[in-house]
Amino acid sequence: MPKPLLVANWKNYPNSIDEARLLLAKLARAKRYLKKTAFFIAPPLPYLEAVADRAKSFSQLACQDVMEAPSGTYTGVVTMDMLKSLGTRLVILGHSERRALGETNEQISRKVKNVLRAGLAPIVCVGEPSRDHEGRHFEFLREQIKASLFGLTNKTDASKIIVAYEPVWAVGSKALGAIEPSDLAESVLFIKKVLNDIFGRKIADKISILYGGSVDASNAKKLFTKTGIRGYLVGRASLNAKVFESIVRELLS
Ligand code: PGA
Repeated sequence: MPKPLLVANWKNYPNSIDEARLLLAKLARAKRYLKKTAFFIAPPLPYLEAVADRAKSFSQLACQDVMEAPSGTYTGVVTMDMLKSLGTRLVILGHSERRALGETNEQISRKVKNVLRAGLAPIVCVGEPSRDHEGRHFEFLREQIKASLFGLTNKTDASKIIVAYEPVWAVGSKALGAIEPSDLAESVLFIKKVLNDIFGRKIADKISILYGGSVDASNAKKLFTKTGIRGYLVGRASLNAKVFESIVRELLS
């Protein structure tokens, strides 16, 4: 069994480098638990180096997005090479908060290809805006996955892809709360089927699926048990070291 995969998505927090350093110092106290997981922090870009320096004994580096063009001169962007030179291994793509800012499936699929070409692993976020009794959200999910992974074939190194299932209604401070474990299990099965249709069984079986959306200490265990996920993408709760430690301990219990 691979270690549980945990990605702390700090989004645009904390507000200052001093607070980021304090959070890292507090997280370090949970080192002995974190080391039993594959733990990644995706901080805001200005804090990448601080995380690389201060958390290297218990965490690896992820980032929250990357530029779309593979190369060229663009004011105001950060390149994949820069991210790689700091040790970044995973790149979150297509987060619902970025999609809400206008990012399209087409852009996301181009970024997925660039990230794979650079030898990094993309975490492709997908999730329905709402659920309905007729199961129309599955149709939405299928189309979103297919479009976000458009142009990739089983010849690409697609087994490196990680899919983060993040139902939009469960994400962030306006969320309705986390998904129920039985609904999560059903969605994971569905996502696996879609991946199977795109890439074939051999590759689809290697693609890890994460869940994200209102994960906290009270649901970390039950959402992980028998739902088919490899771990979590954690937003708000990753900014509180004590709460985050409880999540990890629940997962490992
Ligand atoms: P949340 O966010 O844990 O605060 O709901 C998850 C995410 O945005 O990845």
